[in-house]
Amino acid sequence: MAQGPQPGDDYRPGLEGVVAVETAISFLDVEQESIVIRGYDLMELARSRSYPEVAYLILYGRLPGPREREDFDRRLAQHYGVSPAVRRVMEALPPTLHGMDALRTALSAMAADDAALADLSPEANLERAVALLGAIPTVVANSFRLKAGLGWREPDPALGYVANFLQLIRGRAADSLEIRAFDQLLTAYSEHEMPNSTFAARVIASTLSDMYGALVGAVASLKGPLHGGANEAVMRMLLEVGQPERMEPYLMERLARRERIMGFGHRVYMHRPDPRALLMKELLRELVAAKGQAELYTLCDIGEAVMRREKGLYPNLDYYAAPVYYLLDIPIELYTPIFFAARTAGLAAHVIEQQAHNRLFRPRVRYLGPRGLHA
Ligand code: SDX
Repeated sequence: MAQGPQPGDDYRPGLEGVVAVETAISFLDVEQESIVIRGYDLMELARSRSYPEVAYLILYGRLPGPREREDFDRRLAQHYGVSPAVRRVMEALPPTLHGMDALRTALSAMAADDAALADLSPEANLERAVALLGAIPTVVANSFRLKAGLGWREPDPALGYVANFLQLIRGRAADSLEIRAFDQLLTAYSEHEMPNSTFAARVIASTLSDMYGALVGAVASLKGPLHGGANEAVMRMLLEVGQPERMEPYLMERLARRERIMGFGHRVYMHRPDPRALLMKELLRELVAAKGQAELYTLCDIGEAVMRREKGLYPNLDYYAAPVYYLLDIPIELYTPIFFAARTAGLAAHVIEQQAHNRLFRPRVRYLGPRGLHA
């Protein structure tokens, strides 16, 4: 017999469809198939603005003017590296540690460098957000390099955010198509309303804990295969299948075993396309035309058709982002850490908004356990 708030209580498993937050940052307008970011459409932003400009919009609530853009780039570049203390922590981690766990640990260590940790003012949190945005690419790239036994690589403050991030990961300059592709991928991942990881960050921020703790909670959430971890799983699946003609039988076998296919489905989009997947599919087509590996595009296209026919499901961002990462020569273990790096803009904005108009999150339960027992 259930006890606790009941008569018509609005218990929804997984908070499905529950409005838990009021925000001016973003909204998924499923009917209009638009991801609204501070009043703009995310896909329009991805095609017309750079990731740093979109990050500025998410954090400050408006697009930067030319001078603000220059100043923002300069401030980001000032924070590209990490302190010797954080580097030592990262170098002490075992190579067996997953990239998301290394990122989570480095984020925790970065709090020790913040002399104003107790200052939760919007101004202090905005400065913190810019510093984290600048530093996290160095953490992400070097977590992989240390694990692979490669040397530590320092960022290049002469490069823009996107070029520096790619150079840190690959150790070589990127061409204009690669820069644009990576920039659009980062923008596609930058903010997406109230996913589990953003909600985790806001729940932690609502206790007036600090930005680092909120982001550490978000990293832990994003690592999960039902959430951010899906992009890595998609690429491993595509490599396992290998040939286009094997994709349909492979999927049919797994569906017959009632398995979940990573990269498909979404709690909000359900049986509608994820606008970000469409943008990534366009990018994949361009990258395949420039770099070859056309079978990768064919594989994905077949998979998309099979899942639509068999389950009425559409690809989400991760399904087409995975082969885009792959053609950019990015190691698979970095797909989810890069997702987090891009989402840092959105996460920081939500922490700031939560603490500016805070109400502690403390839901109730429907109790199913026993009563009246005596020790
Ligand atoms: C991200 O929230 C966000 O915005 C997240 C994100 C962001 O930008 O932050 O968009 C990023 O996390 C994208 C999602 C990445 N995850 C995956 O690709 C993992 C595979 N997807 C699923 O596990 C699933 O679709 C979820 C978790 C994404 C959503 O699941 P729901 O809303 O809980 O749906 P459900 O589990 O109730 O499934 C409904 C039906 C079920 O069928 P029945 O059992 O009722 O017959 O759809 C089926 C499910 O079995 N189904 C799938 C499926 N997803 C749902 N079947 C096969 N493969 C799948 N991927």
